[in-house]
Amino acid sequence: MQKADKNPIVMPRHVAFIMDGNGRWANKRGMPREYGHRFGVKAFRAVLEHCSTLDIEAVTFYAFSTENWKRPQREVNAILDLMDHYLTECEKKHEEYRFRLIFLGDKSAFDDKRRTRMEALERDTAHHQRILNIALNYGGRDEIVNACNRLLANGRAHVTAEDFAAALYTASSPELDLIIRTGGDLRISNFLLWQAAYAELYFTDVLWPDFGPAEVDAALAEFSTRKRRFGGV
Ligand code: FPP
Repeated sequence: MQKADKNPIVMPRHVAFIMDGNGRWANKRGMPREYGHRFGVKAFRAVLEHCSTLDIEAVTFYAFSTENWKRPQREVNAILDLMDHYLTECEKKHEEYRFRLIFLGDKSAFDDKRRTRMEALERDTAHHQRILNIALNYGGRDEIVNACNRLLANGRAHVTAEDFAAALYTASSPELDLIIRTGGDLRISNFLLWQAAYAELYFTDVLWPDFGPAEVDAALAEFSTRKRRFGGV
């Protein structure tokens, strides 16, 4: 038997990224935080493109949390501008990109125009297999409360874990296997709280704008060595 057969690479079906470190990356260069977010989008593109060459069914990126509104208005506007540019790009190129775009989060915070564009993109890309989730105005606790309220509004008095998962923003995605957080902090920051139950966690000091395909491969290699027991032995 060849070595590759003895130690097969185990690919995660669903990988999520906490893209942290844009602000520090910019500050180190004497530049404003917005500059870091611009380079953060470059890293996002490179990582997404790399993932699309791999056998991964769903990728999720934490772009803007329910708490990020507390940042200076100028920074919030800069992130939303970057998102608007990306929406425009996806509107033009989604058939070439070939992924199903889903926005995780409470869209009601956005104005009608932005919300309509997000919903149209979700509809227009729904035929693609590979999923790209972008978490925007997303909070894990908010998602859980929202799911409870949806189930209650549907008259449900008793639910199973499967019913509950189906009421979350991630209902269309496979189980989450791996969370990658850049930027050195060792926490989850209200991201995919329910979905993280059995996910592997991978932390790196690399700041998000410096994160790229080689770092993705290092995280996947590490994932492949993890013994996942899901509570068993
Ligand atoms: C965290 O780094 C980063 C964010 C809150 C924003 C991430 C957003 C983008 C990369 C743009 C997303 C756009 C698209 C198109 C997906 P931080 O600024 O909190 O870093 P710091 O800890 O160094 O301050």
